[in-house]
Amino acid sequence: MKRPDMAIIVGLALVTALAFVAFWGGPSLAGIVGSPHDLRSYGVPTPATNQVCVYCHTPHNANTDPRLTPSYLWNRNVRAADYPVYDATYTNPLPQNTPHTLMCMSCHDGTTTAIGQMLNPPDDYNGSQNTIYVTGDENLGTDLRNDHPIDLVYLNSSEGGPLPATDYNSSSAITAAGIRLFTFGANTNVQTCASCHEPHAKYNYPDFLRITPNNSQICTTCHNM
Ligand code: HEC
Ligand code: HEC
Ligand code: HEC
Ligand code: HEC
Repeated sequence: MKRPDMAIIVGLALVTALAFVAFWGGPSLAGIVGSPHDLRSYGVPTPATNQVCVYCHTPHNANTDPRLTPSYLWNRNVRAADYPVYDATYTNPLPQNTPHTLMCMSCHDGTTTAIGQMLNPPDDYNGSQNTIYVTGDENLGTDLRNDHPIDLVYLNSSEGGPLPATDYNSSSAITAAGIRLFTFGANTNVQTCASCHEPHAKYNYPDFLRITPNNSQICTTCHNM
C-alpha cells in the first residue's frame, strides 16, 4: 500500500473515532439540573435560589432525627410517624421505615414539607412562598400499603432469606444488573425507594429509574417471571 493511501485510511479512522466520541462520549444529559428534581423550576423560594442540592441536603445543621441514620445531611423535616408499608407474610420487613422512605416521602406524601421548605435555607433565600406541595400521581399519600414493598431485607431462599428463589432472583444478580440494596445498622440488602429510583437522575431512564422500564425490565430484574 502506498503511503498517501495509508494516510487517508488513518485520517478517516480518526474522523470516525472523533465523531463516535462526540456522539456517544459527549457530556451526559443526566443529572439534577433540568430534571424533575431541579426544584428551582417551581420558583420557590422567591427569588429562587441558584442551588439545586440545597432543597434536599445541607452542609450544616442538617436534620438530627435518629431515624435518619445516616442523616444524609437531610435539609427537611420528616414525618413524625412512620408510614405503614405493604407486607406479605414471607417478607422480612424492618421494624421501622428506612431513612430513604422518610426522606422521599417528606415531599412525596404531599403534606409533610412544601417544595421550598428547608431546615437550613441557602443565603440567596427568601422564604415567602412555601405553599407548593407535590400533587397528582407524584403524591403517594401517607399510607404506603398500596405501593410496591420497601423497607425489607431482599434475600432469596438460596441465600438464606425469606423470598422464594423460584420467583425472586438472587441479591447478587439484581445488584449486578443495576438495582441498589442498602445497609442500615445491622441490616444488609435492604430494599428501599432508592433501590429502583436514583433521585439524582444519574441514569437517562424515565421516573429516575435505575433500570429501563422497557418490557418491564425493571420488574423482571428482581422477579424471575
Ligand atoms: C430531591 C431531593 C434530592 C436532591 C435535589 C439531591 N439529593 Fe442527594 N440524595 C437524596 C436522597 C433521597 C438520597 C438517599 C438515596 C440515595 O442514596 O440515592 C441522597 C443521597 C445522596 C448522597 C449519598 C450517595 C450515596 O451513594 O449513598 C450524596 C453524596 C448526595 N445525595 C449528594 C447530592 C448532591 C451533591 C446533590 C446536588 C447536585 C444532591 N444530592 C441533590 C435526595 C436528593
Ligand atoms: C424536595 C422534595 C422532593 C424529594 C425529597 C423527593 N422528590 Fe421526587 N419529586 C419532587 C417533585 C416536586 C417532583 C415533580 C412532581 C411533578 O412533576 O408534579 C418529583 C418527581 C419525582 C418522580 C417523577 C419523575 C418524572 O420523571 O416524572 C419520581 C419517580 C420521584 N420524584 C421519586 C423520588 C424518590 C424515589 C425520592 C427519594 C429517593 C424523591 N423523589 C425525593 C420532589 C421531591
Ligand atoms: C420496585 C421498584 C420501585 C420501588 C421500590 C419504588 N418505586 Fe417508585 N416507581 C417505580 C416505577 C417502575 C415507576 C414508574 C411507573 C409508571 O411508569 O407508571 C415509579 C414511579 C414513581 C413515581 C412517579 C409517579 C407515578 O406513579 O408514576 C414516584 C413519585 C415514585 N415512584 C416514588 C417512589 C417512592 C417515594 C418510593 C419509596 C416509598 C418508590 N417510588 C419505590 C418503581 C419503584
Ligand atoms: C428491587 C427488587 C424488586 C423490583 C425491581 C421489583 N420488585 Fe416487586 N417485589 C420485590 C420483593 C422483594 C417483593 C416481596 C415483598 C413482600 O413480600 O412483601 C415484591 C413484591 C411484589 C408484588 C406482591 C407480591 C405478593 O405476593 O404480595 C408484586 C405484585 C410485585 N412485586 C410486582 C412488581 C412489579 C410490577 C415490578 C416492576 C414495576 C416490581 N415488582 C419490581 C422486589 C422487587
